[in-house]
Amino acid sequence: MTKIKIDSNFNKSADFVSFHGDCLELMSEIPDEFVNLIVTSPPYNIRKEYETKLKLSDYLDQQIKVIEECVRILDKNGSICWQVGNYVDNGEIVPLDIMLYPIFNSLGLKLRNRIIWHFGHGLHASNRFSGRYEVILWFTKNDDYVFNLDPVRIPQKYPNKKHFKGPNKGKLSCNPKGKNPTDIWEIPNVKANHVEKTIHPCQFPVELIERLVLSMTNEGDWVFDPFMGVGTTAIASLINGRKVIGSEIIKEYVEVTNERIKLAEKGDLRIRPRERNIYDPDNPNNIPPKYAYINPIKSKQTTLK
Ligand SMILES: C[S@@+](CC[C@H](N)C(=O)[O-])C[C@H]1O[C@@H](n2cnc3c(N)ncnc32)[C@H](O)[C@@H]1O
Repeated sequence: MTKIKIDSNFNKSADFVSFHGDCLELMSEIPDEFVNLIVTSPPYNIRKEYETKLKLSDYLDQQIKVIEECVRILDKNGSICWQVGNYVDNGEIVPLDIMLYPIFNSLGLKLRNRIIWHFGHGLHASNRFSGRYEVILWFTKNDDYVFNLDPVRIPQKYPNKKHFKGPNKGKLSCNPKGKNPTDIWEIPNVKANHVEKTIHPCQFPVELIERLVLSMTNEGDWVFDPFMGVGTTAIASLINGRKVIGSEIIKEYVEVTNERIKLAEKGDLRIRPRERNIYDPDNPNNIPPKYAYINPIKSKQTTLK
């Protein structure tokens, strides 16, 4: 199998740029309109072990700088997916997508979906309802953008249902390729028993990012994650034949990323399969975890910009 080329600094001929350092420093090396998809989950400023809590206005000022640079390096047909939850201040919640939307909007980006990512596990609140969703804001730079629905269709509820009258009588009434997954995604978050769990307190599940990568890019395209954590965006991109750039300030997380990539290269990285149903105690299903392997990028000849 073709070995993927990893570089720790920006390099157009790498398959994966795994940068240890500040995202703004890395982005200053990336040319205008170079990447096709940016997908990330920034720090939420809630005192996770990798962040220092800032005043909301200071946090937003930091985010503006990163978002402006992201818009500069994004291809004209490209997309940005910003995954966020709530900032919490003394029990009062501030949904970060509401605070961040005006920044993207003022930079001319167009919102295509506000995807609700619903999951089953999290903190149990006692003074309000327990939070069980976060949001992905999907923006495009222009009206002409990549969107491939077929690779991310999900099974129809009644796949064999047919029209019972009219000119199409007897023909299938739904798309045999599956249905649109809609803008509400129920995907388990990565907690203690999840097969993908690492040392990171809030990593993405691979299947969440695969859905974005498969629908918003083509094979050989570049994906970028400024806040890469333990490299879930890199895994979801490389196993689907995309190239990827990521930055992370904590060295230990960069090391975990690189180990996960090595495992995926050997086909030994365990991930939760996209086709697995949500666990139902009355009807447990036994689809085992899948082993991810890196899909060598087919279009090695992709024109470099
Ligand atoms: C919400 S976590 C992202 C987790 C990631 N989605 C994953 O699947 O592992 C945000 C990450 O951003 C990193 N970070 C914070 N500020 C950064 C900066 N200025 N440049 C690069 N990384 C940063 C943090 O260390 C943290 O790991």
